[in-house]
Amino acid sequence: MEGFLVSDHYHLYPKYLEMIIPQIKGVNVVYVEDIAEGLENAPKALVGLFYGRNVGKQVVMLSQMGEEVMNNKQIILKHYVEGYPNESDMEFKNSIIKLNVPEGSNVVVLMNLYLSCDPYMRSRMKNLEDSYVESFTPGYPITGCGVAKVLKSGDSNFQEGDLVWGMIGWEEYSIVTPAQSFLFKIHDKNVPLSYYTGILAYVGFYEVCSPKKGETVFVSAASGAVGQLVGQFAKMLGCYVVGSAGTKQKVDMLKSKFGFDEAFNYKEEQDLDAVLKRYFSDGIDIYFDNVGGKMFDAVLLNMKLHGRIAMCGMISQYNLKKTEGVHNLLSLIAKRIRMEGFIVSDHYHLYPKYLEMIIPQIKGGNIVYVEDIVEGLENAPNALVGLFYGRNVGKQVVMLEMAEEMMNNKQIILKHYVEGYPKESDMEFKNSIIKLNAPEGSNVVILKNLYLSCDPYMRNRMSKLEGSYIQSFTPGYLITGYGVSKVLKSGDSNFQEGDLVWGMTGWEEYTSIVTTTQSMFKIDHDKDGETVFVSAASGAVGQLVGQFAKMLGCYIVGSAGNKQKVDMLKTKFGFDEAFNYKEEQDLDATLMRYFPDGIDIYFENVGGKMLDAVLVNMKLHGRIAVCGMISQYNLDKTEGVHNLFCLIAKRIRMEGFLVFDYCHLYPKYLEMIIPQIKAGNIVYVEDIAEGLESAPSALVGLFSGLNVGKQVVMISCE
Ligand SMILES: NC(=O)c1ccc[n+]([C@@H]2O[C@H](COP(=O)([O-])OP(=O)(O)OC[C@H]3O[C@@H](n4cnc5c(N)ncnc54)[C@H](OP(=O)(O)O)[C@@H]3O)[C@@H](O)[C@H]2O)c1
Repeated sequence: MEGFLVSDHYHLYPKYLEMIIPQIKGVNVVYVEDIAEGLENAPKALVGLFYGRNVGKQVVMLSQMGEEVMNNKQIILKHYVEGYPNESDMEFKNSIIKLNVPEGSNVVVLMNLYLSCDPYMRSRMKNLEDSYVESFTPGYPITGCGVAKVLKSGDSNFQEGDLVWGMIGWEEYSIVTPAQSFLFKIHDKNVPLSYYTGILAYVGFYEVCSPKKGETVFVSAASGAVGQLVGQFAKMLGCYVVGSAGTKQKVDMLKSKFGFDEAFNYKEEQDLDAVLKRYFSDGIDIYFDNVGGKMFDAVLLNMKLHGRIAMCGMISQYNLKKTEGVHNLLSLIAKRIRMEGFIVSDHYHLYPKYLEMIIPQIKGGNIVYVEDIVEGLENAPNALVGLFYGRNVGKQVVMLEMAEEMMNNKQIILKHYVEGYPKESDMEFKNSIIKLNAPEGSNVVILKNLYLSCDPYMRNRMSKLEGSYIQSFTPGYLITGYGVSKVLKSGDSNFQEGDLVWGMTGWEEYTSIVTTTQSMFKIDHDKDGETVFVSAASGAVGQLVGQFAKMLGCYIVGSAGNKQKVDMLKTKFGFDEAFNYKEEQDLDATLMRYFPDGIDIYFENVGGKMLDAVLVNMKLHGRIAVCGMISQYNLDKTEGVHNLFCLIAKRIRMEGFLVFDYCHLYPKYLEMIIPQIKAGNIVYVEDIAEGLESAPSALVGLFSGLNVGKQVVMISCE
């Protein structure tokens, strides 16, 4: 008799699997399962075993293969609404969604980022019949314009990761059919993604009003989503523009921020006709109507002959059981006024054209776009209701948790592994999106990168390395290197928002890192009166080593690759001597000239022939700190070093080091160097290239000696 446990035989598992699977496939062996669906049914299934309820192998299926089941918070319309809407007309609900695309379906699974609050949504809360829009269905989520990210797609026009705008649900995840949802891909991510919820309705100004320079334009609800843009475009065309709004703050903003010529608070005016006469003594050419009602009636009396009215919206009427009557329509005839309503969706085909127009204006700062962003789906009902009380200042948007500070993030990518000298075209500029959040205790720190260091060793990382002390960059991904950054958010209690830090970061505007190390340069231990030679001496490392050696009372000589740098070594950094290695035929002789008694310390930055020459000029018990060997980085095969026997003959200590081995010493050395720099005892020369786009040429320039001092790329001067 022999007992067994299956786990004792796990090592035989592959063998038996190989045997059974073909048998099952060939239907020689039948395997019956009893599958319970859903985690909630698992206890019952387990218990059932003991009552013999299962027929075959009892299994609990949590989700189909590839089918993700997620919680999905939603905002539901509870019932049709009369009068002013209230928050209580909507409710917050937790539901479940399967984030999968059924086979053969063309649906797209979206993770929702921003929702737009629009006045027309009030109409959809009614039981509408025969309207240009459909009613919301009580008991179901509200829908509206929004920005989302594609998680899965059954439509070949949309890929996972695409950012889109269109009609989505007021929920965390939506599954939509692209055509029904008017889904548009977002191509230009250089403006905040939330802008795509609202920068379109001003098309009516161009398409309906045909504005001309010098015309007089009146805009109501002028500080809102649509009004602010219409006013600014009218100003750009050279029109005289007046706006109305419902608070002093908004009126001030119209003039000071959006550049309207005049603005007034309609709530403080008894006689709208008189107000309009005050601002438009010769009448109004164009009225962009957002409010309807009494304002519209007053405008009709003040229109010019052949005036145009774009009927964009009538928010003052949306909550009334019966709309107010308009009394002055006869003006249309007497003044031959053209009045035309428009719906933004009729103009979707013009969207690319208008986007091409507005985005450069926003980027260039010619157009300002003010948003009123509330955070969290649960606050969406309040934000929507607020429109009808004028609570919003600018475009009302709801930011969902998943969008939390999704920022545009420009990056420099390595395109492919590099052979020989690197070229700018080995790298490329890419726009991406980053989520700027760092949950407490996560050790995640979000950095705004200020300066990037271009270092020769980065060339190695552009090659496919194996068994190296550093890792290759990954083609298609971001380049990384040392940089100076500001902490924006921190999940690590050692770092606070606002801290300036130095360490490994990405070649991008923002970086999210998990904190592990901080780094520091270590300088070899110099002794008073010793002789020191530094190669690549005017560069980032060399200039500091030389100056510290001088401060310690050493005799210091440096080499560099042009006259300007050699002069700088002596005049700016206080080296005793310096020479241009490119002009020297016999480096051994040169060193003998400057070090007739030999070199105590060589700080090695270049390698190759210089190292060979130094070796023969070292003193007994000399020390060589091997910091880098830039002359060898771009060679297929390094030059041979011939004089290494000197190490033995002169008992020389030669030691390579990597700055990250000395991270723990960083605070100590910083404490030493910063007061010296502040006091002007140490000079630090930088060669600053401005803008992330100039980073590749700055990096490439290192290898032809274009940099004077530490090569840095400044991304932001904050
Ligand atoms: N035709 C289309 O395709 C289209 C597209 C988008 C929008 N629209 C319409 O354009 C208008 C503006 O929309 P928006 O998205 O830009 O909204 P918004 O102006 O950003 O927000 C609505 C604003 O309307 C004002 N308002 C509310 N009740 C009012 C009332 N009884 N009388 C006068 N003003 C009132 C409030 O500002 P104050 O503080 O100034 O009162 C409120 O902040 C709306 O009528 C909307 O329906 C039409």
